Amino acid sequence: MIERRTGSDQAFDSMASAAPLAAEAPARAPRVLLGISGGIAAYKSADLVRRLIERGAEVRVVMTEAARAFITPLTLQALSGHPVRSELLDPEAEAGMDHIALARWADQVVIAPATADLIARLTHGLANDLLTALVLATQAPLTLAPAMNQQMWAHPATQENIARLVARGVRLLGPASGSQACGEVGAGRMVEPVEIAAAMLPVSGGGLRGVQVLMTVGPTREAIDPVRFIGNRSSGKMGYALAAALQQRGAQVTVVAGPTSVAPALGLECVAVESALEMEAAVMGRVAECDLFIAAAAVADYRPEAPALAKIKKDADSIALRLVRNPDILARVAALDRPPFTVGFAAETDQVEAHARAKLKAKRLSMIAANQVGAGEGGFESDRNALVCLWCDGRRELPMMPKPALAAALAALIEERYGAQTAG
Ligand code: CTP
Repeated sequence: MIERRTGSDQAFDSMASAAPLAAEAPARAPRVLLGISGGIAAYKSADLVRRLIERGAEVRVVMTEAARAFITPLTLQALSGHPVRSELLDPEAEAGMDHIALARWADQVVIAPATADLIARLTHGLANDLLTALVLATQAPLTLAPAMNQQMWAHPATQENIARLVARGVRLLGPASGSQACGEVGAGRMVEPVEIAAAMLPVSGGGLRGVQVLMTVGPTREAIDPVRFIGNRSSGKMGYALAAALQQRGAQVTVVAGPTSVAPALGLECVAVESALEMEAAVMGRVAECDLFIAAAAVADYRPEAPALAKIKKDADSIALRLVRNPDILARVAALDRPPFTVGFAAETDQVEAHARAKLKAKRLSMIAANQVGAGEGGFESDRNALVCLWCDGRRELPMMPKPALAAALAALIEERYGAQTAG
């Protein structure tokens, strides 16, 4: 896809004379307030929460009283990671984020499903529950995904209400046509969650279309004997989320993955490996075809020199395990004559930026994404993380947010830097 530059003409040679580092405002995850009203399609709202999060959003859910008959708040709380609210007059909830703060928090409001009753109440500006009050109180754009029986949708009352809402600037997604839960056929089905999420959070540019990405993901396992290994706590969550975010930007992604319990996104080519040596072989066999290489795996730095062929018995009082260095896969790729655009990660306990910048330079990487481990929130087993991303003459902070949102922000930055390098 790209004409590769040779190692020597990468921008590192000019690092010493680089201009002052370009600091930019931290990006944050887009905030989506999902309203759910009481129709059978509410069961699909659980999937919608997941799809919105996959696309990088922070999601908070507000349900009408009737919606609670179709799906439990607990399900939506577990998926969104935030308490779900229904009551307008709830002193406990109002003591936290009150309804006005919630209305201001949202960048976008989507109501899915939007029932005929809810649409009627919105049309008349009622504020007799939390969801309708929020719609009046927010300045965020409102999207509705109607779902109802086809007769109810076709009724002139509903059609007039919809026309008035659309005239006010409300965006309408659907309804779709097809067979309905009530057994009838016609217009009234809620649009599929994946389509709603894509319409709410379009990926701008798709600037990685046709770009071949090779990634390492997850931990490695270094055999001690046939049943034991040295491993680490990497969950692979961040790596897989990044792979999905790059796919959404049009990239063709191949993942070389150590053992994890994460289910990869559809359409991702996965090569399963266990040890660092297997990972290295899988990467080196494929690297010539890739434009962009991302080392997101937590590769063991050392492996047992001579793994036992049979299970080690506990005969001795103590045993010594001699370890030898594993190859640095990322450094090997970056040192190729015609390296791809290379992105590495760095986990640091202190002086995060200084250590990461030293690694960026020593390994001659195009970009490095560093995070602080061992203190407070974030890191290996957490669902949230923050990164500071460095390249030869710039930096950008991606603040603490859920890993899918962080992955989406990182994918956007990788696209931007890759574009800048290939254009430059
Ligand atoms: N990496 C790799 N192969 C290895 C070790 C690390 O590809 N054998 C990659 C990781 O995927 C990650 C980056 O290199 O992108 C981490 O760099 P490294 O210098 O190994 O970081 P630390 O392990 O944190 O190094 P140190 O312990 O020296 O701080």
